[in-house]
Amino acid sequence: MIKNLRKRFPVFSKNPDLVFFDTAASALKVDSMIKAVNDCYSYEYANIHRGIYALSSKLTKRYEDARISVSKFINAESSENIIFTKSATEGINLVSSCLSDNYFNDGDEVLLTSLEHHANLVPWHLVSKKIKIITAKIKPTGELDYYDLLEKINSKTKLLAITHMSNVTGSITNFEEIKIKANKFNVPILIDGCQYVPHKKLNIKQLDPDFYVFSAHKLYGPSGLGILYMKSNWIDRLGPYQGGGSMIKNVETDSSTYLSGFQKFEAGTPPIAEVIGLSSSLDFINEVGIDKIYEYENNLTQYAYSQMIKNNDIIIYGNFSNQTSIISFNIDGVHFNDLAMLLDKKNIAIRTGHHCAQPFMKFFKISGNARMSIGVYNSKDEIDYFIKTLDEIKIILKS
Ligand SMILES: Cc1ncc(COP(=O)(O)O)c(C=O)c1O
Repeated sequence: MIKNLRKRFPVFSKNPDLVFFDTAASALKVDSMIKAVNDCYSYEYANIHRGIYALSSKLTKRYEDARISVSKFINAESSENIIFTKSATEGINLVSSCLSDNYFNDGDEVLLTSLEHHANLVPWHLVSKKIKIITAKIKPTGELDYYDLLEKINSKTKLLAITHMSNVTGSITNFEEIKIKANKFNVPILIDGCQYVPHKKLNIKQLDPDFYVFSAHKLYGPSGLGILYMKSNWIDRLGPYQGGGSMIKNVETDSSTYLSGFQKFEAGTPPIAEVIGLSSSLDFINEVGIDKIYEYENNLTQYAYSQMIKNNDIIIYGNFSNQTSIISFNIDGVHFNDLAMLLDKKNIAIRTGHHCAQPFMKFFKISGNARMSIGVYNSKDEIDYFIKTLDEIKIILKS
């Protein structure tokens, strides 16, 4: 079943030779999602939540049904815990801003790791209270140092903000022990699931974080939409993030009261077509099966890794014991951007640079590297072609 999926991605009809290995940045778009967005704008569009007429109420229902689809996809207790934002980045900013208003005090510690994406670093730098950022170390292999992280959780820790899967190495965080220690000190956990959710089944009831973010565009869905899961006690406790239409109960010229629940976090006209598109891309993933996707992509990743380590000039970053779908590397003596340009001439798209993870790059003492990442449309033949092309490029660049 997975083998025929390439034809579901219209980009390949115009670019039949494209080998797309940049899914970790943003996934290609599936036909049914494009159609859903197109149909929404062409035949179904009206603003939602306020219209009494049929077009508006029908789309309002579809929009709220999409919230239910998202909650089912991650096995959440209720769709009431799902907040739509413009990106995963905005989801983290929403949490950091609201915690700053209503939770943090000067001197509180926020514990994060040096392998975070900038989206899970910079929002904590912007907190208006004088919080202290504590950073858990990384092992020389590039894996999170769990021992160091656990040691750093104490009574001053007021939040853990940690990635579920590194966008540089693809390594997956194990939250079992982290949760035990965090619960002991009553520390809430925010998990950045941008890279995890497209590849592995998320059971949020079991994982039980306080906050969890991911983005639609990495799920074969539209850009301009992020998903923030927030536990009910935080929804009740935290104030609005932005003010405007849709989130109010009563407004005077000099004061206002707000709706309760997720609605207080969704000010203004929401990303309507994007939410409809996401629902459709989740249908696609559900039809294929997230477990099958994981197995398929993981087999491809392991195969690519097994081929790449045969080449002594390739330096791979990260520990391959618990990772998937991403391989970060450099070729000894070759600049990653030269490599990417030559790969592009062979129709292979990879990402190079710091991958919005400068602290991680600094840890490895590099300014950047090359990252190949895998999606449902990739194949073993493409990996063979990639490996062969890497060999050819290495010879050209080193001669
Ligand atoms: C691990 C991780 N966190 C956060 C983000 C930010 O997501 P977005 O750009 O969709 O807001 C990304 C995007 O690449 C990511 O890989």
